[in-house]
Amino acid sequence: MAKTAKVARRKAATAKKVSRRAAPTSAAKVRQAKKKPIKSVVAKTQPATVLDHIRTAASRLRKARVVFAHGTTDPVAEAAFIVGETLGLRPDAIEDACDRRVTKADSAKIRELVEQRVRTRKPAAYLLNRMYMRGLPFYVDERTIVPRSFIGEILDDHFGDEASLQLRDPATVTRVLDLCTGSGCLAILAARAFPNAVIDAADLSADALAVARRNVMDHGLERRIRLVQGDLFTALGGERYDLIISNPPYVDAEGMAGLPRECAYEPKMAFDGGADGIALVRRILSDAGAHLDDDGGLLCEVGRCRPALEAAYPRMPFLWLDTEESEGEVFWLEASQL
Ligand SMILES: C[S@@+](CC[C@H](N)C(=O)[O-])C[C@H]1O[C@@H](n2cnc3c(N)ncnc32)[C@H](O)[C@@H]1O
Repeated sequence: MAKTAKVARRKAATAKKVSRRAAPTSAAKVRQAKKKPIKSVVAKTQPATVLDHIRTAASRLRKARVVFAHGTTDPVAEAAFIVGETLGLRPDAIEDACDRRVTKADSAKIRELVEQRVRTRKPAAYLLNRMYMRGLPFYVDERTIVPRSFIGEILDDHFGDEASLQLRDPATVTRVLDLCTGSGCLAILAARAFPNAVIDAADLSADALAVARRNVMDHGLERRIRLVQGDLFTALGGERYDLIISNPPYVDAEGMAGLPRECAYEPKMAFDGGADGIALVRRILSDAGAHLDDDGGLLCEVGRCRPALEAAYPRMPFLWLDTEESEGEVFWLEASQL
């Protein structure tokens, strides 16, 4: 009995891990597959199944020590993503397809993608031109950073889930700014979280905005999301918002020097936060108040810059919001506190 409970707990934990920022996948079955000896897959006379491919790919990725920081967090989740995308399966459809046989042609495609991932270290999201966030698909290419912000989870938890601290009633949020929008992923998730809102999505990079435009169109949100090019708030005139969300560049000089090979494929301007990482966050803090309604609020991701930020603003009452995979990386401030 105790053993059964332990196994169930382990499967549940794995399922949580795999589903983290993408959508739920076949975590439990995938975990079971990892326990089978590799020979059983290689020696098969019939075509390998989806599950066999996930298991083989995960093993290859693990051995090659690729870095998982681009929307998947471990070899199994990344293998499931590669196999699923190759076969046209969304993450939440993989579990039901685990026993499906894979054609020779698709098997070859999967093997080639895994080898490309290992050889080039290019993030799988760029190889496949897609990443999922909170279950939604986004087109991505090297003109913009791969979506992986913690703010997506916070929009779901702190504006929707009544079991968590509710920062605002989502129905009352009508004007949102997504500053440093990149692929537009957070603006699009905000459109889902705040059904009555129109959203401005701003970025300095014309390349990133071209990707955002494609995503806005793919999600049919042209009437609700306006894309704006400019340096932070400069192109927004006197606009005011109920909510500003931002995942700005926040990597400090030391972090920039130590980025993994995978990150070299992403635009440098998506990371570079100056010497102490908070060059842009400082500017956001100084200007956000002028763009928020009196009862508005600012939600901002700062990665590992919390100590630098608290040292620079010792009196600022940052409310730090944790997620499944982060602690103290996103803060909330009321307009009245800015
Ligand atoms: C960390 S990425 C975040 C992208 C997207 N919001 C996400 O979460 O995936 C930061 C973005 O800020 C943009 N950026 C950099 N400097 C900027 C500036 N001065 N003004 C506006 N956007 C800027 C970059 O082009 C990049 O798209």
